Amino acid sequence: MFLSAKTPLLAVDIGSNSIKVGRLMGTPGKYELLNFGVMPLESESVIEGVVQDEDHVVDALARLVKAEDMDTPYAVASVAGEAVMIKKIKVPMMNQEELEEFIPQEAEQYIPFDIDDVRIDFQILEGTPTLEEHELEEEEEKQEILLVAVQNEIIDSRSNVLTAAGLKPVIIDLDVFAMVNAINISRNLQDMGSVAIIDLGGAFTHLNILMDGVTSYTRDIPVGQDACTNTLMEKYELEYRESENIKVGAIPEGAEKEEIIEAIIESFEPILDELHKSFEFFSTTSNSQVEQAFLCGGGAMIPGVDGFLADRLGVPVEIFNPMEAVRLGSRKFDAQSLGQMAPMATVAIGLATRRFDYI
Ligand SMILES: Nc1ncnc2c1ncn2[C@@H]1O[C@H](COP(=O)(O)OP(=O)(O)OP(=O)(O)O)[C@@H](O)[C@H]1O
Ligand SMILES: [Mg+2]
Repeated sequence: MFLSAKTPLLAVDIGSNSIKVGRLMGTPGKYELLNFGVMPLESESVIEGVVQDEDHVVDALARLVKAEDMDTPYAVASVAGEAVMIKKIKVPMMNQEELEEFIPQEAEQYIPFDIDDVRIDFQILEGTPTLEEHELEEEEEKQEILLVAVQNEIIDSRSNVLTAAGLKPVIIDLDVFAMVNAINISRNLQDMGSVAIIDLGGAFTHLNILMDGVTSYTRDIPVGQDACTNTLMEKYELEYRESENIKVGAIPEGAEKEEIIEAIIESFEPILDELHKSFEFFSTTSNSQVEQAFLCGGGAMIPGVDGFLADRLGVPVEIFNPMEAVRLGSRKFDAQSLGQMAPMATVAIGLATRRFDYI
């Protein structure tokens, strides 16, 4: 099969807790799910987004790909965490070509990494004046761009894992951008004002705050749902898997349901602190308030988490189902279990909307 701009890529989301793969056929508004699968990973094989046990992760991915019976090796993956920096900066008015030359020279002052160790990308933010609209004498006028820098090491590590599992990575995206693409399948973020997308992952709470559909502020908060797993492990002297089972309803001997709920709520406190700080930062820098939030990631499957977060964040919260506007393909999907785990699939489904465009 030849790769064209229409070839559905295999989306690979290597999270700290599990790998998710997905594939969407078709175009926006008419997506059909070709594949979706999840493979749990051993604890600590991926730490804070960085693959530690490459053999295990490659093996898990290869098994997942085999089980899904994929007919294309072309893949899109994502990265997150410390190795990723996204920043809104102001630059002089230039067109795309000029920016491509200008940004790599300018970027160094904005990024906390050695410029030789990163790959840089950028996006002109809509809403700022374009070159055509502005007059020559307004030379001082600036435009906003979203600067993205990702350490080579993490891109290479992701690519190597995919290649070792028999795939051909053609795009490496970011979790926080994939979340946006997933939501845009069924919603028009550009008509929704200021919206926070919160992905309650294992190692991270990935956050993207958008204004009228445009990314305004992102963070991979390095505290996630593993904090809760660890608390439960310590509290009830359990193994990792046993503790994970509590989250899906198992109650260990001698424990009370109330106690468990309390431990879960407590583990959200550091996450809430960081979310509050981020909301605050967004409101002071953008003169706007977050009006609503979408929840995704494994933690979005905790019963009642939407109400709890709505209360603590002071905004309406909706648990997002990235499959809501996706037709289930001809393969036999178990619609019910797919629906239940849908929030966890958000990044994979967002990645699956990407197409590889030739130049
Ligand atoms: N049904 C469930 N109810 C409650 N929590 C759950 C459920 N299923 C998974 N989780 C929790 O969700 C977390 C994993 O979420 P997710 O799969 O989104 O993380 P990840 O993508 O692997 O990690 P990260 O994005 O942080 O690298 C784990 O802490 C797990 O215990
Ligand atoms: Mg994740």
